Parts: sequence; structure tokens; C-alpha cells
Amino acid sequence: MFLSHFAPLLVFTLGIRAQDTSIATVEKAFLNAHIPADLSVAFKPHALLEVSLPQATGPPIVLHAGIQVPRNDTAGPPTFHVDGDVGKGPFVVAAVDPDAPTPQTPTSAQIRHFLGGNFVNEGGLLVNKTPAISEFRQPTPPAGSDAHRYVFLVFRQSSGFATQTFVNATTPVSLFNISLFAEEVRALKIDM
Ligand SMILES: *[C@@H]1O[C@H](CO)[C@@H](O)[C@H](O)[C@H]1NC(C)=O
Ligand SMILES: *[C@@H]1O[C@H](CO)[C@@H](O)[C@H](O)[C@H]1NC(C)=O
Ligand SMILES: *[C@@H]1O[C@H](CO)[C@@H](O)[C@H](O)[C@H]1NC(C)=O
Repeated sequence: MFLSHFAPLLVFTLGIRAQDTSIATVEKAFLNAHIPADLSVAFKPHALLEVSLPQATGPPIVLHAGIQVPRNDTAGPPTFHVDGDVGKGPFVVAAVDPDAPTPQTPTSAQIRHFLGGNFVNEGGLLVNKTPAISEFRQPTPPAGSDAHRYVFLVFRQSSGFATQTFVNATTPVSLFNISLFAEEVRALKIDM
């Protein structure tokens, strides 16, 4: 059996003021974990995305940059909060695994673990009233793998998202490229 971990790291974009120290901490964690380079994204986060994983019993697990979570606690689906004065939205939330099947040999990365649009900000809670393009897929690192990084990002949604044809529910979740997706659909404004 494997002892897998869920090492999520949070967040982004949006032009806002939030808690600078928290953003700085998250940004540093991302840089230390080589996430911008591995995802081919340059960013300067302006908001914090809070990701919570509901549990069968007890309170949800609130993720923080670099936290390691046992696989069994990651069934989800997660709920999302945004911390900052970012307006009503809409927003796109994405979660990817750049370490599949293993961090050493990520030949099927990125795995798209979640991709949903039309999220609106209701007092910090991000609510989407349309089905996600890719509903949440529980992390499942293969037996023996080191911990994977699961990266959650929030983007401002532009008008192009509604008509994008680059990815849909039947598009394979493997070999996804969030950076390329953003370019192709011109739907995501990545604040650099
Ligand atoms: C894993 O989760 C399932 C379903 O929530 C539960 O029945 C099981 O006891 C859990 N296993 C461990 C090892 O925690
Ligand atoms: C879904 O996307 C794939 C490309 O990943 C494309 O080949 C297919 O035609 C699309 N399906 C629909 C219904 O748009
Ligand atoms: C992902 O797409 C970006 C373009 O946005 C590209 O620079 C990068 O090489 C791609 N990554 C992979 C692994 O193909």
C-alpha cells in the first residue's frame, strides 16, 4: 500500500489588496516548490484562494501552501473562498497535478483535477451555478510515489471562457497545460 500525501499549494491572481504577508508567504512557497517554472506561468498573486476539503466526520481540512494531507482525506469536492476585495467575478478555478505519475518522471502531467468557471463571489465564498468543465478528481498518486504537488489557482474569467472549445468534459485530463489553456482560450487573465 502506499502512503500518499496531498501537498496542495494555493492560489491567485486578481488585482486586489489582501493580507500581504499571507500572499508573500504563499508566493514564496510556490517559488520554493518550483511551481511557476513547472507550470510555465509567471505570476504575481494578488488574492488568496482558500481551499477546504470536507471530511466524513469533523470539520473540513483547510489547505495551506505546502500542507501534506493523507489521500484518504481528499475525497472532496473542495469548497473555495477568496480572501480579498476582488469583486463579484466571474472567476475560473483550476487544480492541476504537475507530478504525475511521479515527481521524478512526470510523463502524464499535468493532470487536470478541477476546472470550473462562472464562480461568483458571495461574501468570500465562491459559488458556481454551472457544471464544471472537469469536476473534482480525487488525488491518487500511484503506489510508491513521493508526494505530489496539487496546485489550486483562481483566475479572473474573461468573456472568451464561455465560448472556448479547447477543453471539455471529455478531453483527457492528462497532459494538460494550464498555461497553454490560458493562452488558447484567452479566457484567463493571469496577472503578471
Ligand atoms: C478512508 O475513508 C473511508 C471513507 O471515508 C473510511 O471508511 C476509511 O475508514 C478511511 N480509511 C482510513 C485508513 O482512514
Ligand atoms: C472536446 O474536446 C476534444 C479535444 O480535447 C475535441 O476533440 C472534441 O471534439 C470536443 N467535444 C465537443 C463535444 O466539443
Ligand atoms: C505549456 O504551455 C506553455 C505555453 O503557454 C509552454 O511554454 C510550455 O512549454 C508548455 N509545457 C509543456 C510541458 O508542454
